[in-house]
Parts: sequence; C-alpha cells; structure tokens
Amino acid sequence: MLVKIIEKDSSDYVKALALRVAVLRKPLGLSYAQTDLDLEKDDIHFVATHDQDIIGCLLVRPMSKTIIKMRQVAVSFSYQKKGIGQKLVAASEAYALSHGFQKIELSARIDSVPFYERLGYRVTGLTYIEVTLPHQKMEKSLDQ
Ligand SMILES: CC(C)(COP(=O)(O)OP(=O)(O)OC[C@H]1O[C@@H](n2cnc3c(N)ncnc32)[C@H](O)[C@@H]1OP(=O)(O)O)[C@@H](O)C(=O)NCCC(=O)NCCS
Repeated sequence: MLVKIIEKDSSDYVKALALRVAVLRKPLGLSYAQTDLDLEKDDIHFVATHDQDIIGCLLVRPMSKTIIKMRQVAVSFSYQKKGIGQKLVAASEAYALSHGFQKIELSARIDSVPFYERLGYRVTGLTYIEVTLPHQKMEKSLDQ
C-alpha cells in the first residue's frame, strides 16, 4: 500500500472520485454537484493505492496561513479497519507540518469521531447536520 498526492484531472483523480461517490455519497442517495468539485481544484488530493487500485483518499484545503481543513476521508469498504485511513491522515499531517500549518480542522461524521479521536483530534463544538448526517467539528494542533 502506497500513499501519494495526485494531480486533479489525472486518471487517479477519476478513480478517487469514483471511490468517494461509492463510499461517501451513494449510501446516502446523493452525488456531487459540479460546483463543489470545481472548488476542489486547489485542494491537495491524497490517495492510498494497492497495485493499480485506489483504495482510499483524503483531501486537504488551506483555510489560512496556519489552518488546513481535512475533507473527504474515505476508504474502500473492503479495505476498512486495516490501517489505511490512519496512514492517509498521517500523510496529510506530515504535509501540513512541512508546509507551515499549525492546525488541522475537519467536519467528522458522528460514526467516525472515534477514528479521529484515536488519532489525536478533539471535538470542538455541538453536533450539526451535513449531507443528511450528524457531524461534529474536530481539530488537532500540530505543535503539540
Ligand atoms: C472512517 C474511515 C475513514 C476510517 O478508515 P479505516 O482505514 O477504516 O481506519 P483505520 O483502520 O486506519 O483505523 C485506525 C484506528 O481507528 C479505529 N477505527 C476506525 N474506524 C472506526 C470507527 N468508525 N469507530 C471506532 N473506531 C474506528 C480502528 O479500529 C483503528 O484502531 P486501532 O489503531 O486501535 O486498531 C473509514 O472507515 C471510512 O471510509 N468510513 C466510511 C466513510 C467515512 O465515514 N469517512 C469519514 C467521513 S468524516
């Protein structure tokens, strides 16, 4: 398994988007609006690969000079709970640190809060609804 950064509009991007649709949108009966995808052009896109397959992905979006937002964390159903999400998060944290960011923020589905807590993230606010599901804002300081 390899974690790498991919280019938007690459064949890997197309595969990663298909994974996001399958894991993050189709189970909710939703899809992505092209306007949302257009906003991702400046995000940094990480993928986890196994042979030629994309088995996980994660995006980060700079919000300011010090804060970066982690988004769209998804691992293919048959590869979940095998440490792939953890490796994707670690790669994005290394990227954030090496580019001078001090804090990572994210919006966690309620079911995935324990996953992020295991990786050092803490809940910062009340539960709210996003894409039909309860979510919580979480964050992690990178200087701790
Ligand atoms: C949430 C998700 C990204 C985690 O990725 P993963 O590859 O399955 O997680 P890992 O195997 O790296 O797990 C790391 C640790 O977190 C734990 N963990 C993972 N998902 C968990 C969950 N939902 N609840 C509790 N613990 C969880 C693992 O058991 C592991 O613990 P350990 O180190 O003690 O063994 C993945 O399950 C997924 O894509 N879920 C569906 C989409 C989703 O909810 N994405 C998050 C949107 S905010």
